[in-house]
Amino acid sequence: MDNNFNIKDKVCVITGGSGVLGGEVAAYLLKQKAKVVILGSNQERLDAKLAILSAIEPNNVIGYVCSVIEENEVKETSKKILEKWGCIDVLINAAGGNMPGATISEDKTIFDLELADFDKVSNLNLKGTLIPSLVFGKHMAKQGKGVILNYSSMAVYQAITRVIGYSSSKAAVTNLTQWMAMEFAIKFGDKLRVNAIAPGFFVAQQNSKLLLNTDGSYTSRGQKIINNTPMGRFGKAEELNGAIHWLISDASSFVTGAIVPVDGGFSSFSGV
Ligand SMILES: NC(=O)c1ccc[n+]([C@@H]2O[C@H](COP(=O)([O-])OP(=O)(O)OC[C@H]3O[C@@H](n4cnc5c(N)ncnc54)[C@H](O)[C@@H]3O)[C@@H](O)[C@H]2O)c1
Repeated sequence: MDNNFNIKDKVCVITGGSGVLGGEVAAYLLKQKAKVVILGSNQERLDAKLAILSAIEPNNVIGYVCSVIEENEVKETSKKILEKWGCIDVLINAAGGNMPGATISEDKTIFDLELADFDKVSNLNLKGTLIPSLVFGKHMAKQGKGVILNYSSMAVYQAITRVIGYSSSKAAVTNLTQWMAMEFAIKFGDKLRVNAIAPGFFVAQQNSKLLLNTDGSYTSRGQKIINNTPMGRFGKAEELNGAIHWLISDASSFVTGAIVPVDGGFSSFSGV
């Protein structure tokens, strides 16, 4: 019987692959014998991650500095990948994040929001998902198959204090996922799929100061999140791998437009 979870030799592009969650899935996919391309905006972080990933499977991983909000850079990078490996099977849009000006700290109100930072965060999360989806998606449409996986968030379903720019742009990523799933399936057939995961709370570069004190104990915000997570802990980056593997493989061939929570029960818990 065919193993429809088999992703050996699939060319998987991971934006934000130098980050915590993107880097973790890159390592996992290499162990599944996939070919992995990581994209990051910072050369040093990219090189450091490539060194770690090359130790797993040196011939199956490459990386490029490429900003996901610069269409020309993404187009140039897609050419290089095609020259190297001839096709692109999977796009994982893990680049994303937040910045202080687009958040409302406890001593401020919404009227202190810095619109320039709000724009930057919106741009990174929404257009930084849209642009690679258009560039790599066009290639997938030509080849008649391909899978896109986006990163939504728990900040989408219910309002979470402070993170206004992040939440609204991740809500847009959820809608974009559904919209592109519809568009691809109707216009290009059932072999092109677009889904998202909605991670709960995982400690990463962008949020570690919000969740943990320097001694590793929970901040008061971190503690509130733990209290609202039935499993009573933060997620470990590797706990996203199972859902991602399923969504990018033929095992989910009739799944498109889905947003899969991986959150220790956060989204289903009333808090009572
Ligand atoms: N950590 C969590 O709890 C959590 C929860 C829900 C969703 N997410 C989402 O998961 C994704 C991965 O986040 P993470 O936690 O690994 O964060 P991270 O900060 O460790 O990684 C994000 C990566 O994106 C890269 N990046 C930033 N701007 C870029 C650009 N213009 N072009 C290319 N790359 C760029 C950064 O260099 C970094 O490597 C993000 O979209 C994030 O919003 C994270």
